[in-house]
Amino acid sequence: MKLPFFRSPDGREGGGSADPTERRDESVLTPAPEAAGVMAGRVPEVKSPSAPAGPTKIAARDVSVFYGDKQALYDVSLDIPDKTVTAFIGPSGCGKSTFLRTMNRMNDTIQGCRVTGKILMDGQDINARSVDPVLLRAQVGMVFQKPNPFPKTIYENVAYGPRIHGLTTSKAELDGIVESSLKKAGLWDEVADRLHSPGTGLSGGQQQRLVIARAIAVNPEVILMDEPCSALDPIATARIEELIDELRERYCIVIVTHSMAQAARVSQRTAFFHMGRLVEHGNTEEIFTNPRERRTLDYITGRFG
Ligand SMILES: Nc1ncnc2c1ncn2[C@@H]1O[C@H](COP(=O)(O)OP(=O)(O)OP(=O)(O)O)[C@@H](O)[C@H]1O
Ligand SMILES: [Mg+2]
Repeated sequence: MKLPFFRSPDGREGGGSADPTERRDESVLTPAPEAAGVMAGRVPEVKSPSAPAGPTKIAARDVSVFYGDKQALYDVSLDIPDKTVTAFIGPSGCGKSTFLRTMNRMNDTIQGCRVTGKILMDGQDINARSVDPVLLRAQVGMVFQKPNPFPKTIYENVAYGPRIHGLTTSKAELDGIVESSLKKAGLWDEVADRLHSPGTGLSGGQQQRLVIARAIAVNPEVILMDEPCSALDPIATARIEELIDELRERYCIVIVTHSMAQAARVSQRTAFFHMGRLVEHGNTEEIFTNPRERRTLDYITGRFG
């Protein structure tokens, strides 16, 4: 069952999914010779090149964001494909989190924040009056930098969403959702025997996977991740990156990261932001090997940021 985030008069769901994208060749590309020369071998390897992106899931059109009088984002237009990992990169303060938050209306919760332009999900305006932001946020889940499990048991963390959204009618059904969500998040084997222990008792990497399981439990279509690995050690980071690679078969995923290597490893599309503007976007392979803009090249090669 999908969560219809639109309370439209005709009861139509705001969802719609496409065929899963094929798994792709995992061969590693080297930068194009002309770019490689300039970059002197400092460009991260792209793991999943030439990804056939799914159909557009989210389309942003001329999106600007203001905090009070201060404009943080300028006329961003970007298509985000389904069944694909899109990375947002750019120096601190360039507007990555601000833009990410426009996609599930988290900016609504910030006083003085104003969004103009349009965000369409499956062609429908998520800022329309008919959209319930609570349902939208279930459908467009979010994972933050710092794992934020509820102060509840592992089981309750995952069961909470399906319960408040009325997705199940029986305890057995709820147990099934908890188990399948923990399995999809790659955490089941580690917690199956302690489901009723506190979620906060898990390691940081496990907590981040618990939070992902919690997002998955309400059947999202999109998962937004804002620097999900920045508080994790390299092993936990690798585990989350593997998970992201698995999840892209089912979901539209957007990840904000400061790690160029991570963007190159996990994403198939990359968008580079600078000073509130989207400078360029495209296939990760192209952005990392042959960027069109000098600013992109300077950033990915570590000349600023
Ligand atoms: N709640 C807020 N109130 C006022 N200004 C804000 C708020 N959140 C962000 N800003 C401003 O908007 C701009 C973009 O911030 P944002 O957090 O989106 O950047 P970012 O690219 O995510 O940076 P970082 O990489 O450091 O997380 C910055 O100038 C920031 O100071
Ligand atoms: Mg941020």
